[in-house]
Amino acid sequence: MEKNIAVIKGDGIGPEIVTEAMKVLDRVAEKFGHKFNYEQLLMGGCSIDANGVPLTEETVERCKAADAVLMGSIGGNTTTSPWYKLPADKRPEAGLLGLRKALGLFANLRPCLLFSQLSEACPLKAEIAAKGFDMLIMRELTGGLYFGARKTEEINGVMTAVDTLEYNENEIRRIAVKAFDVAMQRRKKVTSVDKANVLDSSRLWRKVVEEVAKDYPEVTLEHMLVDNAAMQLVKDPAQFDVMVTENMFGDILSDEASMITGSIGMLASASMNESSFGLYEPSGGSAPDIAGQNKANPIATILSAAMLLRYSFKMETEAGAVEAAVNKTLEAGFRTGDIMSDGMTLVSCSEMGTKISDNI
Ligand code: IPM
Ligand code: MG
Repeated sequence: MEKNIAVIKGDGIGPEIVTEAMKVLDRVAEKFGHKFNYEQLLMGGCSIDANGVPLTEETVERCKAADAVLMGSIGGNTTTSPWYKLPADKRPEAGLLGLRKALGLFANLRPCLLFSQLSEACPLKAEIAAKGFDMLIMRELTGGLYFGARKTEEINGVMTAVDTLEYNENEIRRIAVKAFDVAMQRRKKVTSVDKANVLDSSRLWRKVVEEVAKDYPEVTLEHMLVDNAAMQLVKDPAQFDVMVTENMFGDILSDEASMITGSIGMLASASMNESSFGLYEPSGGSAPDIAGQNKANPIATILSAAMLLRYSFKMETEAGAVEAAVNKTLEAGFRTGDIMSDGMTLVSCSEMGTKISDNI
C-alpha cells in the first residue's frame, strides 16, 4: 500500500524521537512491501521561529490532505524560552490545541501497560508491579476546560480569571461510544471518571455514559470520582481496562499512569476523529533539558507509529511486528537512560531506533 504521512517533528527532543520512528516505519515498508511518503511540517515553537505563529493554515491543510499525522513534541522551557513571553494564544501549546480542534481529534487513546522487562523501573511496590497492568485511557480532547471561554480581568480592583468547563451531550456521547467500542476489543470493562459529587458537567457526563452503556450489555461500566481514580492508579492499577474521562482529568491521570509504567518515554498515544484519521504522538513532552543529546527514549514515538499502522492504515500485522520488536529489544537488555537499571546495556536514542528496526 502507498500512504502519505504528515510529519511534525516539533521542538526539543521531537526531531530525534520522530527520526527513529520513521526509521522503524521505513523498515516496515521494506519488509511488508509498502511505500510511505513523508511530508515534514512545522508546528509549535519551530513554527513560531519560522512563521511567527505556532500553527499555520498551511500545516492544517497539509495534515488534512495526509492519510495520518506522526508527531514528536512541542514546546520549550516555560521559564527561560522566549516563546513563553508571547501571549498565551501565540505559544507552542496553542498550536497543538488548534491542530487537535481543526482536525476534529476528539478521542485521545493512551495505552498504559507495564512491560514485564521494566518492572524495576516501576516506582510502585514490588507486589503491585508483579500483578502487572494493561489499561487504556480514553481522554476527551477537544472540549472541557481546554476549549471553554476564558478571560482575565480586573473586577472592582481585584484581578480575576475565569476558565469554563463546558460539555454538551453529543461531545460526551461520541467519546463514550469510542470507549465502549475499544472495551469490546479488550477486557470489556469501562471505568468512567468524573467529579459528579461537585460538577454539573460531570453529572451530565455520568448520565450520558449510562445511556451509551445500554447499547453494550457485555461491557461492565463503573463510575469513579477523579480523586479516587488518582489513588486507585497507584494502589491497584490492574483493576483498570478502559478509563474514559474528560480532557483535563485525562491529561492529569495519563501522566500519573505513564509514571507507573516506568517512564513517560514509554507512553504512546493516538488522537482520532470520527473515522480512522489520527495524529500519533508520544504522551510525553519536548524534554528541552536533554534535547539534541541523542539521549531521549524513542519507544513511545515508535509505539505511536505502531498505533498509526493499526488504526489509520489497518495494518494489524505490521503494528504487531513493531510492538514485538520493541519487546525483543527490551528483552535483549537494551535501555535508554530513563529506563536504565543494573546489568542492562545503555544505548542512545538512535541506537535504540536501530535495534528496534533491526528486530522487525
Ligand atoms: C498532553 C500535553 C498537552 C495537553 C499540552 C502540551 C498542551 O500535556 O498532550 O498531554 O495538555 O493536552
Ligand atoms: Mg499532558
